[in-house]
Amino acid sequence: MIIRVSASILGLDYSDQTAIDQAVLRITNANYVHFDIADGKFVKEKSFGSDVVARTSLSGTKLEKDVHLMVKDPEKEVDKYLEAGADMISFHAEASKAPDKLLGKIRAAGVQAGLAISPSTTLKSIEKYLDNLDFVLIMTVKPGKPGQKLLKTTIKKVASLRKKRPHLDIEVDGGINAGNAGELIDAGATILVSGSYIFNSEDPKIAIDLLRNA
Ligand code: DX5
Ligand code: ZN
Repeated sequence: MIIRVSASILGLDYSDQTAIDQAVLRITNANYVHFDIADGKFVKEKSFGSDVVARTSLSGTKLEKDVHLMVKDPEKEVDKYLEAGADMISFHAEASKAPDKLLGKIRAAGVQAGLAISPSTTLKSIEKYLDNLDFVLIMTVKPGKPGQKLLKTTIKKVASLRKKRPHLDIEVDGGINAGNAGELIDAGATILVSGSYIFNSEDPKIAIDLLRNA
């Protein structure tokens, strides 16, 4: 499967739309812009909402919108992100009482549906949903903040999910850089999320190519 890169804007000054628009132009060789929605309830951090997703135009690029909902009630929140033009939406299994239903709703809207799991959540707990989703987002850091160090223990989770599902897209998120991307790809990851490594790089486009070809 081809390796894709999703550039996270969590570390940027997302209150300044021109800053986001300029950042997008620096990552046009990525596959997705990763919008980390933190609601201050599911995680203690608060980031931004569907207004930022809606007003960040990706027209003129081949970039798509990858929305990661770190929110307490994803069932209540999802419509706003469907309307905001999300191409992929993941929500946390730990925050949903009926993941199946919400996955079905996202897919019915023609959007790729994913379940996200925090480092302490087992694959076992989402096994029953694996036939009703398009991807799994395995958090490689504790959800909420950018700039954390990748938790090596999560790489085993990627490998065991790959073994169970040879063709499923596996997105990994947090603390990813050119130094650990190779190990994640070897374990089976197909979509790499990165914010700090990409945007702190001298040339984000080169950073993206280094991740994809790690
Ligand atoms: C954590 C976020 C971050 C972000 C990437 O909640 O999901 O992982 O996307 O941040 P970096 O690449 O800075 O670790
Ligand atoms: Zn994320």
